Amino acid sequence: MTDAIGDLATPRPAAPIPTIHPLIVRTTHWINAAAVLVMIASGWEIYNASPILPFRFPTALTLGGWLGGALLWHFAAMWVLALNFVVLVGYGLASGRYRRKLWPIRPREILADIRDALRGKLAHADPAHYNAVQKLLYAGVLGLIVLVIASGLAIWKPVQLQWLTALFGGFQGARIVHFLAMSGIAGFILVHVTMALIVPRTILAMLRGR
Ligand code: HEM
Repeated sequence: MTDAIGDLATPRPAAPIPTIHPLIVRTTHWINAAAVLVMIASGWEIYNASPILPFRFPTALTLGGWLGGALLWHFAAMWVLALNFVVLVGYGLASGRYRRKLWPIRPREILADIRDALRGKLAHADPAHYNAVQKLLYAGVLGLIVLVIASGLAIWKPVQLQWLTALFGGFQGARIVHFLAMSGIAGFILVHVTMALIVPRTILAMLRGR
């Protein structure tokens, strides 16, 4: 009896807090975020020099000041984006992280999550597990980054990479795909950052790992 009471009185050592996002995920995530933002802002300045749609982006949201400056930013950040993306996705695939955290993506679960979201009941509070909509959005944005890089290469080197440019239906086709992929990524960032700000501890977990 005394022993049992003694057991209860002895403080147990605190269980170690599990790491949710390893250092490599956090580092590559934030480098990716910075590179994508620089690519988008400089891309908008490049677009403004020769718009494919009847509007221009507000100068305050663009980077580079003029076409030449924006191209320098775009080409510099492009290397950071592409090299970091290889590490980010390489780790996600090789470590089994994507298989564990982003898979499977089931249409039935997505519909159920959307219904819950519309009723204001969608769980996004546990940084260790992604809901079906998160899985779809994260996998989708990774796909869009592949598309934006491939269409960007087709616009950058349309002579050397003729086959790639042809795959997009030519130079203008590649420009349109590049623009649409950028729009998808920009839309993702709007939703993603809003959701992260609603549940700030997910941001802490992406900074500290736990
Ligand atoms: C700049 C502002 C950004 C903030 C504040 C932010 C925040 C976060 C947070 C908090 C998570 C963890 C989600 C959770 O635990 O619920 C996350 C994951 C993720 N973010 Fe971001 N993010 C930003 C930008 C981006 C950008 C620009 C992209 C891609 C275009 C991106 C792609 C991803 C992906 C794919 C994941 C899942 C990573 C994994 O678990 O392997 N994020 N982000």
